[in-house]
This record gives sequence, C-alpha cells and structure tokens, in this order.
Amino acid sequence: MDKKVTVVGAGHVGATAAQRLAEKGLSDVVLVDIIEGVPQGKALDLMEAAPIEKHDSHLTGANAYEATAGSDIAIITAGIPRKPGMSRDDLISTNAGIVRQVTEQIAKYSPDCILIIVSNPLDAMCHVAYDASGFPKNRVIGMAGVLDSARFRTFIAMELNVSVENTHAFVLGGHGDTMVPLPRYSTVAGIPITELMSADRIDALVERTANGGAEIVSLLKTGSAYYAPASAAVEMAEAILKDKKKILPCAAMLEGEYGYHDLFIGVPVKLGAGGVEEVIQIDLTADEKAALDKSAAAVEELKGVLAKL
Ligand code: APR
Repeated sequence: MDKKVTVVGAGHVGATAAQRLAEKGLSDVVLVDIIEGVPQGKALDLMEAAPIEKHDSHLTGANAYEATAGSDIAIITAGIPRKPGMSRDDLISTNAGIVRQVTEQIAKYSPDCILIIVSNPLDAMCHVAYDASGFPKNRVIGMAGVLDSARFRTFIAMELNVSVENTHAFVLGGHGDTMVPLPRYSTVAGIPITELMSADRIDALVERTANGGAEIVSLLKTGSAYYAPASAAVEMAEAILKDKKKILPCAAMLEGEYGYHDLFIGVPVKLGAGGVEEVIQIDLTADEKAALDKSAAAVEELKGVLAKL
C-alpha cells in the first residue's frame, strides 16, 4: 500500500489499532514493542486473517525502529495502562520515560511523520512527545476528545433510543476528571440535546462520560479500555491519510487560542494531510470557559510534574 503507519506498543490498544487500520485497508502497518516476539506474532496473526477479512495491508512486527522508516503516521500507545483505583495521572513518571524514548526513535527514522499520542496521561504525554520529537506543533496530536465524545454519543443514543449515527458531541479539555463535555454543541439529528433531555439527565450522562475510562477499568480490573481508544486513534489516522479536513476534538498545542499558551489540551481541530491544519475556536459561555480553565490548570499542574522528573 502507499501509506505506512507505525503503531508503537503492541498491547491492547496498539494491536487493536493495527487490526482496524488493516481491516479498513488504510495502510501497511509496522507494530513495534519491547517484548520480543509479541509484535511479530501479532502482525503475522493479523496478516493471516487478511484473506478472510479481504484486505491487502501488509503487517510486520519489530523490536527495533529501522523497519518503521518513512512512516506517514506513528501512533504511540507504549506504556503502562492504569489498574482499578489509579488515575491516569498516576502513570506519569513511568510513561513519560517510555514516550520520550520511543518518540526519539520514531523521529529519527520518520522525521516527516505525524504523531498521534494515545499513552496516558494524554495531555502530558503530548508535551513529552512534542519536546522529544522537535516536530512542529501541527504534527503532534493527542487522542482523547474523539474517544470522550464517542462515549458521550454512546450514552446519548442509549438514553434517547436513537441511532448512534444521529448523534454528534463535543468533549473538550484535558483527558481526565476535568474534561469538558459541551451539551450545547451536542446534537441528535441536528437538535441540541438540551432540547431533548432534562438538565438532570444531561448531568448524569456528562458525569458518566467523564468517568467513562474508570468505568471500564473497574470492570476489566487488569487494564484499561482499548476497543474504543483504538477506534478513535484510527479515525484520526484516516482523516490524515485521506486528507479529509475532518473536524474532530483532539489534544493540540495551543499558542494563544482559547487564551492558553504552550499548552496541549482538547479543542476542535481540522485534521488533514498536514495534521492539525486549524484550531477551530468556538464560542463558550462563561461556565464552559471556567470549566475549560479548570481543565487547563490540571494540565499545567502535570507539566510542572514533568519538569521535575
Ligand atoms: N517501547 C515499546 N513498547 C513498549 C515500551 C517501550 N519502551 N514500554 C512498554 N511498551 C509496550 C508494552 O510491552 C505493552 O505491550 O506497550 C504495550 C502497552 O500495552 P498494554 O499494557 O496492553 O496497555 P494498553 O491497554 O494498550 O494501553 C497503552 O494507552 O490508553 C492508554 O492508558 C493507556 O498508557 C496506556 C496506553
């Protein structure tokens, strides 16, 4: 295929992302992990499904980075996931070291690629990857808002008994407890949900969305969500590979937009071949802006933790 995507971390999220990339026929895939045999074994297993799934993506596994050379996109999922009782922020010291090391290798072999960061705590890991890669801000993007919005859409569709395809939702801010679901901009067939549900029910869905990751962790007990996170990362990759100019909520480096500087946080962006081609600035009410400020402060705090590592 003419496109090449590297997925670093052949664990739950990474292997599922590789599967979705291949089965959608989007690109060849190189799966990289530190564990010997695992990326090779998963890549071969996925290749052997290709005749049945009817795709021609070529999948390879590797423990070193030579095989990743010339990738169009690298999806970074390497790191540890959280366990019950842990917040995403508890992963920061372990995952910062891992994300720094793998990003340096990716940047060395694919200096023109676009990075999609998935490892948590997401917004802080975007800062690590941005620093380690030296890439321009349009080529470092964090996956959080697409996942959080998909969770919100799922709960809206369940609540109103409508197709998920009729739903649209925006969740902005950091990927943590302070995320900012925006009911005013969340719709069913174009109708704002504020006209379709009581304020109490909206509050309940907003809370379930903010705790969406923890809900899965408490059920799985041994790790965190991976099907929906992989879907979200691949939707972003598809928008870039196909130069779709698709507007999606993603963590992007802001330099003045929404009043923030030198900060990765979830905002609506236009994704195309250039990565983040535009940060879309939408009007926020005073309450919405206050919630986004709180979320930005939480990301700033994590930046402070990173600076001390
Ligand atoms: N280089 C490459 N791979 C690494 C490295 C490294 N330095 N360190 C760890 N890994 C690999 C692990 O060997 C493992 O296979 O990353 C993989 C992580 O997979 P899982 O443990 O299954 O975790 P997963 O559920 O995929 O989550 C990965 O994404 O959603 C986030 O919070 C989550 O930070 C976590 C990440």
